[in-house]
Amino acid sequence: MATVTSTRPYHIIIFGASGFTGQFVVEEVARSAFEGPSGSLKWALAGRSRQRLEGVLNQAAETLRKPELRTEVEIIVADVSEADSLAIMCQQGLVVLNCVGPYRFYGEPVVRACIENGAHCIDICGEPQFLERMQLEYHSRAMDSGVYVIGSCGFDSIPADMGILYTKDQFKGRDLFVGGCAHDGTWQSAIYGFADSGSLRKLRKKFGYQPLPVVGAKVKKRGSLFFSKEIDQYAIPFMGSDPSVVRRSQRFLYEGHQELPVQYSAYVGVGGVWSLIKMFCGGLLFWFLGKFGLGRKLLITFPEFFSFGVFTKAGPSRKQMEGTSFSLTFFGEGYAEGLDPSQGRPNARICTQIHGAEPGYVATPVAMVQAAITVLNEPQFLPIKGGVYSPGAAFARTTLIDRLNRHGLVFSVLIWTVFFVSNIEIGNIFTLPSGGLGSIFTILLIPIQSFQIYRKCHGLQVNRVLSDTLTPCHALP
Ligand SMILES: NC(=O)c1ccc[n+]([C@@H]2O[C@H](COP(=O)([O-])OP(=O)(O)OC[C@H]3O[C@@H](n4cnc5c(N)ncnc54)[C@H](OP(=O)(O)O)[C@@H]3O)[C@@H](O)[C@H]2O)c1
Repeated sequence: MATVTSTRPYHIIIFGASGFTGQFVVEEVARSAFEGPSGSLKWALAGRSRQRLEGVLNQAAETLRKPELRTEVEIIVADVSEADSLAIMCQQGLVVLNCVGPYRFYGEPVVRACIENGAHCIDICGEPQFLERMQLEYHSRAMDSGVYVIGSCGFDSIPADMGILYTKDQFKGRDLFVGGCAHDGTWQSAIYGFADSGSLRKLRKKFGYQPLPVVGAKVKKRGSLFFSKEIDQYAIPFMGSDPSVVRRSQRFLYEGHQELPVQYSAYVGVGGVWSLIKMFCGGLLFWFLGKFGLGRKLLITFPEFFSFGVFTKAGPSRKQMEGTSFSLTFFGEGYAEGLDPSQGRPNARICTQIHGAEPGYVATPVAMVQAAITVLNEPQFLPIKGGVYSPGAAFARTTLIDRLNRHGLVFSVLIWTVFFVSNIEIGNIFTLPSGGLGSIFTILLIPIQSFQIYRKCHGLQVNRVLSDTLTPCHALP
């Protein structure tokens, strides 16, 4: 495997730089270039159209007021359907940031080319089918080549996956259980992922995994719709890739490092009754149309109509992005030191949060670029060999969380409470004991202009308890 001192000309190659997300990844790499090995980053853009890539470079030079980008940053022409072009691209870089999606259609040749040509591969995929299949089919090949293939390094699912590790770490326990407007590219990934959800069950059987051990009481699943007292609004199970990614990380840390896994479930706050009705109608239509070819064609052709304006062909404007933020709140339960998990209910709670700017095109590029910089700067803290990893598995021992904190994805502890089961008092803060965390569930709030949940963000109970630890969400008119 190549190292930073090798003769490869680039530390980072952004493949798919001409895409909607790719253009923001380009800007983020340009902003973070001083964080590269020895204080500089050599990087290049790649994609199938030189002209479009030049356009992205010009735009980045103008937006960032860095005219030197036009002459200093090279362009590599590569197409997913031409294996030779992918091989030549991969031979020139240490890390390929793959922004070409939907990954179910375009991702595999890039993973293969990276492994065969010794470049680490980082993507922002939110499609569990693709991520888990890559692990099944390419993990040992990647290990043999010393290449790290690390998927879901965007908003899906770095905040959830690293947030669980952060929450676990704050608990300092030994026994655990853890109970916008977006662009059309993401909409398409969601449609195909939904249509193909049956294949995921078959794929998982092929791993032949034993169930993970459960510490303490098994966490009860909440319903498919419930009113969450924690956030004072309706919530539903989160359908994205976070639970799949978190489970993979927990399994890796259990099997590879004997860390007891956390039981985890994820929900999304959907607001009040009116948002609920809208979401129910939209969800029903999506479910119905996503099941057959013509329906999917309609969904893909008219994203704006079928998503009530959340997904558009043009993507959000920079102004819209400025008015958007997200917060992910983790509610964990566990055992303070000295309490035997087999003898009773958890007696300690923790509430942590990650908040940040617009998730898809601000937080995602930050997470992806910081993941790459971590791979380049901290290879000694990655898993011993290469392989196909989730972010939590790859970065558990690195300083990725600190790096994200410095770049606006802020991790914080909101509440740490120890209570006697018969006398629950939430809101008191005790010094952190060294017991074990029992369970965690997360609730995700993505305030997007067209979502009512934006306003609810301010109503989070945890804001009121410890308002000084939180930066309020950006205000909307
Ligand atoms: N994890 C997250 O939170 C997150 C956030 C945002 C996006 N995403 C994911 O990122 C992916 C991209 O989304 P997007 O909205 O940026 O999509 P997009 O605007 O459609 O961009 C797709 C990119 O792929 C390139 N491409 C397509 N076919 C290609 C081929 N045969 N060879 C080389 N390049 C090819 C396109 O090149 P041309 O410009 O030449 O057409 C373009 O650069 C999606 O899978 C989306 O789900 C994830």
